[in-house]
Amino acid sequence: MNKLHVSIVGGSGYTGSELLRLLVNHPHIEIDQITSRQDDGKNVTEIFPFLPKKITNKFIHPDNATFDQSELIFFATPNGIAMNFAEKLISKGKKIIDLAADFRIKNIQLWEQWYGMKHACPKLVEMAVYGLSELNKNEIKNAKIIANPGCYPTAIQLALYPLINKKIINEQTIIIDAKSGISGAGKKIDDNLLMAEAYDNFNAYSVQGHRHEPEIEENLKEITKRKNIKALFIPHLLPMVRGIYATIYVDLIEDLGETELDLIFSTTYDQSIFVDYMGINKIPKTKMVRGSNQCKISIFKRDKKLIVLSTIDNLVKGAAGQAIQNMNIMFDYQEDAGLNLLPLAP
Ligand SMILES: NC(=O)c1ccc[n+]([C@@H]2O[C@H](COP(=O)([O-])OP(=O)(O)OC[C@H]3O[C@@H](n4cnc5c(N)ncnc54)[C@H](OP(=O)(O)O)[C@@H]3O)[C@@H](O)[C@H]2O)c1
Repeated sequence: MNKLHVSIVGGSGYTGSELLRLLVNHPHIEIDQITSRQDDGKNVTEIFPFLPKKITNKFIHPDNATFDQSELIFFATPNGIAMNFAEKLISKGKKIIDLAADFRIKNIQLWEQWYGMKHACPKLVEMAVYGLSELNKNEIKNAKIIANPGCYPTAIQLALYPLINKKIINEQTIIIDAKSGISGAGKKIDDNLLMAEAYDNFNAYSVQGHRHEPEIEENLKEITKRKNIKALFIPHLLPMVRGIYATIYVDLIEDLGETELDLIFSTTYDQSIFVDYMGINKIPKTKMVRGSNQCKISIFKRDKKLIVLSTIDNLVKGAAGQAIQNMNIMFDYQEDAGLNLLPLAP
């Protein structure tokens, strides 16, 4: 079988290096070009000694990358980069998976408001598919551009979907209390991310509003065809490297029993390789998914409130792992090719 040639723009950051870690063991992939401006010309294994020596690529400046050999280009770049490359690449028949937010929100005005920049290719946003693998599989198969979901939105939407789809909760009173490890912010210099600040510390941020709120609402509306979803989302920074943990509070419309609720979640995800519904009254932990493409979900019923717990590894199911899962679906590979990873324990 011919290998699929792929390139990575932004290969020197956290999600870029995670793509490399996972793609190295993918049976159907050849990696062509890997970009970095800061590490231009350096051996990739010099910057990432954890990678095997068989990776002989050197980083290349994105301005010099041609992507000629590649059928698919991953963008592991900040917001507002992929949209500047997209038209040219699509016109050459290439496919794109953007790990940033350029194609995640269809409402361009809303996107420009939250991201503070003018969108470079609104027409391409229309044709992009939101890559929440479990819930959008048919659309992903035929996509030319995948908007890979944010890490928080992945854990949160997988947790909320069964309830909204079955129309059993008040869709206006959803409260999401979510936490992320520090690698979620990327490999950048920022006072708040210094060890002396972040270690042994804990805080909420973006309490007045976060970009993932419109992403969660718009895409859940699209996937469930419900119109009035309102989710109050408050993120927090955890003093650990990897992990997303969402504790979600919803109001049940009817007083459904635990057995019925249990059945709704178990039947929604019984065919899913990567979403593990653990059952009722179970506690997922970040270490149960660390390093893997798994999402672990459980539920607790307290009177007419339901609490849904959901955890993923932000760099795997929340970014690079889901991007590879989407690639597998697009190119008709086994969905877990290259992703057969057990979490690191302990
Ligand atoms: N970290 C996560 O857990 C996570 C999860 C889901 C989604 N995401 C999203 O994924 C994207 C990448 O995140 P990350 O955490 O990997 O960020 P990162 O660690 O900061 O890496 C960013 C990468 O982009 C490159 N880059 C920066 N500016 C560029 C430009 N103008 N043109 C071309 N390349 C540029 C950087 O290399 P050079 O500066 O050397 O070129 C670096 O390789 C972001 O949009 C982020 O929101 C991240």
